[in-house]
Amino acid sequence: MNYLKNYEKVYKELEEYYNNNDNNIWRNKFHIEMPFGLINDPNGLSFYNGEYHIFYQWNPFGCEHKTKHWGLVKTKDFVNFTKPQIILKPEEWYDKNGCYSGGAYVKNGTLKLFYTGNVKDINNQRESYQCMVDYNADGSFEKKGVLIDKQPERYTAHFRDPMIFEENETYYMVLGVQTEELKGKALIYKSKDINNWRLAGELKTNMNNFGYMWECPNVFRLNEDKFAFMFSPQGLEEEEFKYQNIYQSGYVIGNLNLDEVSLTNHTKFKEIDMGFDFYAPQVFHHNGKNIMIGWIGMPDKDNEYLSSEYGWMFGLTMPRVLEYKDNVLYQKPLELLKKIRQAKIVDIRNEMSDNWTISLDSRNIECKLDLNLISNENIGLKLSFKDEYILISYSKKDQVCTVDRNNMKLGGKGIRKFKLKADSSLRLHMFIDNSIIEIYYQDGLETTTLMYFPKSDNFKIEIGNDIKINELQIWEVRRINYGK
Ligand code: FRU
Repeated sequence: MNYLKNYEKVYKELEEYYNNNDNNIWRNKFHIEMPFGLINDPNGLSFYNGEYHIFYQWNPFGCEHKTKHWGLVKTKDFVNFTKPQIILKPEEWYDKNGCYSGGAYVKNGTLKLFYTGNVKDINNQRESYQCMVDYNADGSFEKKGVLIDKQPERYTAHFRDPMIFEENETYYMVLGVQTEELKGKALIYKSKDINNWRLAGELKTNMNNFGYMWECPNVFRLNEDKFAFMFSPQGLEEEEFKYQNIYQSGYVIGNLNLDEVSLTNHTKFKEIDMGFDFYAPQVFHHNGKNIMIGWIGMPDKDNEYLSSEYGWMFGLTMPRVLEYKDNVLYQKPLELLKKIRQAKIVDIRNEMSDNWTISLDSRNIECKLDLNLISNENIGLKLSFKDEYILISYSKKDQVCTVDRNNMKLGGKGIRKFKLKADSSLRLHMFIDNSIIEIYYQDGLETTTLMYFPKSDNFKIEIGNDIKINELQIWEVRRINYGK
């Protein structure tokens, strides 16, 4: 790897370049993104030593999916962050083509990071090694090398993204893998000491024919007897209201038997986000809550993400708490995120809209909107940017919500449709940033995440004719900042 020789020099040059060239209108204000290069999956999410630790995949050297490092930002409040810092570089024989995704586990005061070392040999053949790093409270860290040397028999080298959990004083590692028959699966390893691992088996589910690869698996406990298994399958056929992106992320909920390595009585796979640009989420546990952060982006769609012209690409979602209710996971913004609110600029209750247009000074807002569905069964809402717009509409009769990006001029287009049960009111909770929109529907029953690349700064919210507004609240939000 050539660049590694001049690593500091190249990195400094990029940093200087960025400091002088950070003026494009798509830079986000309160979403984590990188000053330069490409960010993808969140990794090693944890609350450690009094701070949230958000590691992530980062190619600091360009907007291509290569030379993956692990970057890190730390925060106590999701407003003040440490400066993005490189932690893992792909410079050992076992990770020379990328320090790929993985999770974290705190043991005896040390944050243990697990990742996949990606290696391509001279014939471009892939090798995958599961590796560990000890990260300490003072910020020092040490690569501990390979824990699992390549995949077991009957699987291909698509074997990656270790996540750790503990049950009954045993550590378990779940990994995404592809069988030799090219089917996506998950493997479970176990360990008594977190250093020595042996294969427990392939996780048995009833998803035997469910895509050709499962990336980024997560296993987490919901209550006394239920577990969620969340993963990102590739190769699902599109259906009406389902699997409309090239790759998916979602979960099933069931009973996990770790002796039999099985998940039984599980629900059907449910996508966790119905928007255009959401993939590879990771879940961690803190203060009794399961908290999820996803990558805002999509693999193999690079030409849709126009900020690459300015040398940066993609972002991370804000943290979402997952609440288990009625056999699904409701998503809620982490309570702490209220800290990004500034002045409330709109507060409307119980008014009829007569073609409402709310002009806003910036595209950085949090908005809670509750529209009455008794007086009006079809609802349309436009987020417009001069002569471009994103349309969100709901049909009560069909119980279908539509997000339409076809009237944007630049970047990805298309429509996403999903089933949504709403009876007396449609409730949207929107976080709108300069090129990212996250929307929670019906108190988090569904969400849509998307990127958009408007040509103009001008921003209006338009609500159709004769719709009763039960509630509309809009807050300006503050810019998150990156300190030392
Ligand atoms: C998911 C993924 C992971 C892999 C990482 C590489 O987006 O493909 O499976 O570890 O990205 O950056």
